[in-house]
Amino acid sequence: MEAAEIKTIAIVGAGDMGHGIAELCAMANVKVNLYDIKQEFVDKGKTKIKESLEKQVSKQKMAADDFNKAMNNIKGFTVLKDAVSNIDFLIEAAPEILDLKIKIFKEIDEAAPKHAILASNTSNMSITEMGAATGRPDKVLGIHFFNPPVMMALVEVIKGQKTSDETMTVSYDFISSLKNFRGAMVPVRVEKDTPGFIFNRVNAPVGLFLAEIYEKGLVEPEAVDAKVRSLGAPMGPYETMDFSGLDVYLHGNEYFEKTLSPEFKPSNWLKKMNEAGTLGKKSEKGIFAWPGGARPTIDMGKADPNFDPMDIFCLQVNEGTKLIQDGVASSAAEIDKAMVNGGGSPFGPFALAQGMGWAKVAERCEAISQKLGIKWFMPTEMLKKGDIQL
Ligand SMILES: NC(=O)c1ccc[n+]([C@@H]2O[C@H](COP(=O)([O-])OP(=O)(O)OC[C@H]3O[C@@H](n4cnc5c(N)ncnc54)[C@H](O)[C@@H]3O)[C@@H](O)[C@H]2O)c1
Repeated sequence: MEAAEIKTIAIVGAGDMGHGIAELCAMANVKVNLYDIKQEFVDKGKTKIKESLEKQVSKQKMAADDFNKAMNNIKGFTVLKDAVSNIDFLIEAAPEILDLKIKIFKEIDEAAPKHAILASNTSNMSITEMGAATGRPDKVLGIHFFNPPVMMALVEVIKGQKTSDETMTVSYDFISSLKNFRGAMVPVRVEKDTPGFIFNRVNAPVGLFLAEIYEKGLVEPEAVDAKVRSLGAPMGPYETMDFSGLDVYLHGNEYFEKTLSPEFKPSNWLKKMNEAGTLGKKSEKGIFAWPGGARPTIDMGKADPNFDPMDIFCLQVNEGTKLIQDGVASSAAEIDKAMVNGGGSPFGPFALAQGMGWAKVAERCEAISQKLGIKWFMPTEMLKKGDIQL
């Protein structure tokens, strides 16, 4: 199959991610079978798409004709086997529960045409295990969009242990043919099914670092955020945690604790906040207060002179070298491409840290490791040797 032959796609789960992915496909003139377990969830997803596209029309960024075409491309379903009976491609965006995803993949495999490619939008979980639940593991892969898909360009295209090269190529080309409100989507190949793939994995040690310095009382979140924002970042790292949700952050840590290292064990402060239901923006209280969901006020005068944001980039570079060594990412440039298009920064960590010299980056990682007693931060051989091409 070639990407141009993908005419009908099923999106399984019409929630935050599913409706956004359906919207992009409908705009690209692909027929979308939008499935959810209840009619009200399908309707809610369709309403969100309609409202989002109407805004584009009112801003004169979309012609009324194109709006009608996109909306007419979407058909709702509440019976899974009907939703997948005529498809060429599928993206599953159901809740992040591995057993549930495995069950869904099994059911889809029994009802979908044999040629159809089946993808999961999972943020972290094993593509290989989902593929193993089907009779076509060569046609199962990960396609990881970022939130919200209509604004974020990055899409990780992830190879499971049995995913074929053809499936990777067709999927990569298909994603390249989609556009969101800002422009073309940017697919990045993830050559191995590994926890966190590229974007979330490169950020994993940063989360651990921020949690640990807060736990040890070495920093005040407001002072760190003020420092980072004084350098031009739109949001500081602790506010970002609150914004994404401290529950999401806790589950991420638990998953990395299980799959990467026990050192990712969630901190006490994080567990306590989850127990108390203070989850950040969504509960109007987290590390900061979010009255009525409004952004917290950060006193820029409190910027911590001792907090150096280069620590964050050094840890990201070190983690990135592990992904290159393990054959997950093809190069440092590919990692920077993922980090730029999945986050808000104009430069990736390798581009930002290269001016320091790789030996100094390695020394910094070693110093952080020793100070906090976390072995995960120790520099790789690749970083120590400076064997990095950009
Ligand atoms: N929200 C994010 O920031 C984000 C970013 C990237 C990837 N993801 C991943 O995308 C997936 C979906 O996340 P979300 O944020 O859209 O969640 P969500 O809760 O907004 O949506 C999930 C949808 O799946 C539906 N659903 C429940 N059981 C189902 C079943 N058995 N079959 C099909 N659909 C079912 C729910 O009714 C809901 O509409 C998860 O795997 C998540 O990890 C989320």
